[in-house]
Amino acid sequence: MASKPNLFHSLVLFIILVAFFLLGMIYQQRKIVREEKELASVKERLKTMSMLEPDVGDSMRELQPAMAKLWYANKYKNYPLALYEVKEIKEIVETVEVLKPVVNSVDVAMVLSNMVNTPVADMETALRRHDDKKFIKSYAQTISTCNACHQMTGFGFNRIIVPTAPPVVNQDWRPATSAIRAKSKTK
Ligand code: HEC
Repeated sequence: MASKPNLFHSLVLFIILVAFFLLGMIYQQRKIVREEKELASVKERLKTMSMLEPDVGDSMRELQPAMAKLWYANKYKNYPLALYEVKEIKEIVETVEVLKPVVNSVDVAMVLSNMVNTPVADMETALRRHDDKKFIKSYAQTISTCNACHQMTGFGFNRIIVPTAPPVVNQDWRPATSAIRAKSKTK
């Protein structure tokens, strides 16, 4: 007598379980679809960001005018400008260090940081001492490092030289004596 309702109960229980299982499946499925959509949008954003990310070439195109301006700043004894350009060179190198590029199995960041630690540091010392001879020597050593790395990385056709003309025509290389005077007045 009791077996009939038992079978009925079991059937109901089974149906409820199946219903829960199906609901669970539907929920999981929706979650997967949602996550896939999110992943796709993250991938899209990463793609855009990597297109905006600076590459070694961008940094190089910044190094080039900084080096040229540095030459004219020293030539005209504009030491604040020269030291500013040295600082710029160091900052450009720092950007490359973050990217950790390896080109033609050359650790570009490592070679660049050696360049900053030796010939660029020597240029800075020379500028602080107003030592033109030492500056010219370390400037040449820096250029040698530029070109040595271009050779090693397979960009040897890219030869850097001491500038033969100013890199821009809208900048006065001479020290800003009037600006210095104005500054000392306010002190
Ligand atoms: C550690 C290696 C390394 C050093 C040091 C280095 N470069 Fe480069 N440079 C490269 C590589 C690699 C490229 C090619 C980058 C690219 O196009 O992807 C390059 C390219 C360039 C370019 C060509 C960019 C263009 O599109 O016109 C210039 C200019 C340049 N470098 C200037 C310099 C100067 C100036 C220095 C020294 C102050 C220097 N580089 C030092 C590795 C180096």
